[in-house]
Amino acid sequence: MGENRRIWSIMVVLFLLVKSINGEDPYRFYTWNVTYGDIYPLGVKQQGILINGQFPGPQIESVTNENLIINVFNSLDEPFLFSWNGVQQRRNSWQDGVYGTNCPIPPGQNFTYVLQVKDQIGSFFYFPSLAFHKAAGGFGGIKIASRSVIPVPFPPPAGDYTILAGDWFKQNHTDLRAILDSGNDLPFPDGLLINGRGSNGYTFTVDQGKTYRFRISNVGLTTSINFRIEGHKMMLVEVEGTHALQNTYSSLDVHLGQSYSVLVTADQPAQDYYIVVSTRFTSQVLSATSILHYSNSAGSVSGPPPGGPTTQIDWSLDQARSIRQNLTASGPRPNPQGSYHYGLINTTRTVRLANSAPIINGKQRYAVNSVSFIPADTPLKLADYFKISGVFSLGSISENPTGGGGYLQTSVMAADFRAYVEVVFENAEDTLQSWHIDGHIFFVVGMDGGQWTPASRLNYNLRDTISRCTVQVYPQSWTAVYMPLDNVGMWNIRSENWARQYLGQQFYLRVYSPANSWRDEYPIPKNALVCGRAQGRKTRPL
Ligand SMILES: *[C@@H]1O[C@H](CO)[C@@H](O)[C@H](O)[C@H]1NC(C)=O
Ligand SMILES: *[C@@H]1O[C@H](CO)[C@@H](O)[C@H](O)[C@H]1NC(C)=O
Ligand SMILES: *[C@@H]1O[C@H](CO)[C@@H](O)[C@H](O)[C@H]1NC(C)=O
Ligand SMILES: *[C@@H]1O[C@H](CO)[C@@H](O)[C@H](O)[C@H]1NC(C)=O
Ligand SMILES: *[C@@H]1O[C@H](CO)[C@@H](O)[C@H](O)[C@H]1NC(C)=O
Repeated sequence: MGENRRIWSIMVVLFLLVKSINGEDPYRFYTWNVTYGDIYPLGVKQQGILINGQFPGPQIESVTNENLIINVFNSLDEPFLFSWNGVQQRRNSWQDGVYGTNCPIPPGQNFTYVLQVKDQIGSFFYFPSLAFHKAAGGFGGIKIASRSVIPVPFPPPAGDYTILAGDWFKQNHTDLRAILDSGNDLPFPDGLLINGRGSNGYTFTVDQGKTYRFRISNVGLTTSINFRIEGHKMMLVEVEGTHALQNTYSSLDVHLGQSYSVLVTADQPAQDYYIVVSTRFTSQVLSATSILHYSNSAGSVSGPPPGGPTTQIDWSLDQARSIRQNLTASGPRPNPQGSYHYGLINTTRTVRLANSAPIINGKQRYAVNSVSFIPADTPLKLADYFKISGVFSLGSISENPTGGGGYLQTSVMAADFRAYVEVVFENAEDTLQSWHIDGHIFFVVGMDGGQWTPASRLNYNLRDTISRCTVQVYPQSWTAVYMPLDNVGMWNIRSENWARQYLGQQFYLRVYSPANSWRDEYPIPKNALVCGRAQGRKTRPL
């Protein structure tokens, strides 16, 4: 090695050392071109939303605390945004990519998201948040691995597979949108997809005797699904960023927007097996299969795929209650997950949210506490930042069910940074609901049938319930969560049923700190797009 090269390599080592001492977190760069393209998921040609030509889109592979720089070129003919289901965006609702936080990327333009997966691990997904684009694809998986110094409560699996499953319609997103805009409900879906393919369109290869991780997300629009693998048990290990108590299941209900990781050991005779998803709580049951292929397989799948659970709500509710966190396992940090005593802290506020399906101005809408959300002409976060009045008002949604008929409103609820809130989702309807809260995780302290009352608190799990970001509410039932409001910003609370979300079953929670400090919230990004009444406003000097 020449002297120059020796000095050069010493300098590189020194530079890397200084960088790691400074603790700067690594960067990953992505350039994504969002286009329309032909896809044939159910055998008929459809116009899908592709990312760099792919459906589903490319997977994001990251490690706790990494910075993700994602430059998105919108080559569609409609304004577009990505949002990041479960990525907490700490101090940074500027990057959340929903209508209330970001101006849409205009057709033919680009915008660079700067995300950090700060203090997170686990399995999530991204999706297009506007204009029912999700019905055309544009979604993909997000993996956040633990840092190498943090113990993971199971041995490294031999492989790590992502399963993005959900219902699918043959009609395209503009036709589906037109149905909703005209005041009607969507038809029943045409099928289910696994990773963008219909039945037996996808094969997962495993070596006999080895153990694999499967990360399953329900990216569908309207139905819960059940997931199972013929002849194999699944050990649950992770739920939306929390290491779960490692129970085994023969099938798992995955509600809209939810994500789970399971470990599956290829411990059966060497052949091929069905991987099955089927719709839940629907009178007609749709299903789709993929293949679990042993590398030394002696034969292909035969006979009908295994059926799903035949019992309905009670079975699912029991399963939901069995999903708990492993208190001694590490999360994103080395300390055990149980060291945050969520059950010993007194809540400072109770918010009760009741969903409903009112007809407003002769059209089907969906509401929460009687308010059916309508977007304003300016993203709420920008209106807040630039102090543009008349876009929204705080308190435009009640924090208790009103019982009244529905009305349209740009609904924003005020909340204080560091409050510790009890949220009770109350579902008096006959359909299952799935709720997601951006920017936060919450502890699912209870769920049960009937009407919630303060006495329901006596049966809360205040010891080891799971924490997550998306939770189901069974028909004629309630679900209660405890949520630390540890993230300043403008956060979307929404139904994950995409027709309900589109027709108003959502609102924003403005978590506010009077400190006005970068320690609580990052400044507006230099490249932030401005639009609506914020048009022409300056973000920050470059
Ligand atoms: C995106 O893809 C379209 C279609 O292939 C192409 O015309 C366009 O130049 C691409 N844009 C970028 C920024 O790569
Ligand atoms: C658009 O992409 C270019 C690189 O092609 C980049 O320099 C620019 O910052 C991007 N614009 C935004 C708003 O992120
Ligand atoms: C959706 O399909 C309709 C015909 O049913 C067609 O007119 C429309 O252009 C399509 N939209 C997209 C985005 O492909
Ligand atoms: C819980 O996590 C610990 C690691 O701290 C692990 O050894 C144990 O197997 C896990 N137990 C269950 C039941 O998940
Ligand atoms: C919670 O409230 C109870 C009753 O008001 C009180 O006795 C207790 O000290 C409080 N606990 C904490 C951790 O503040």
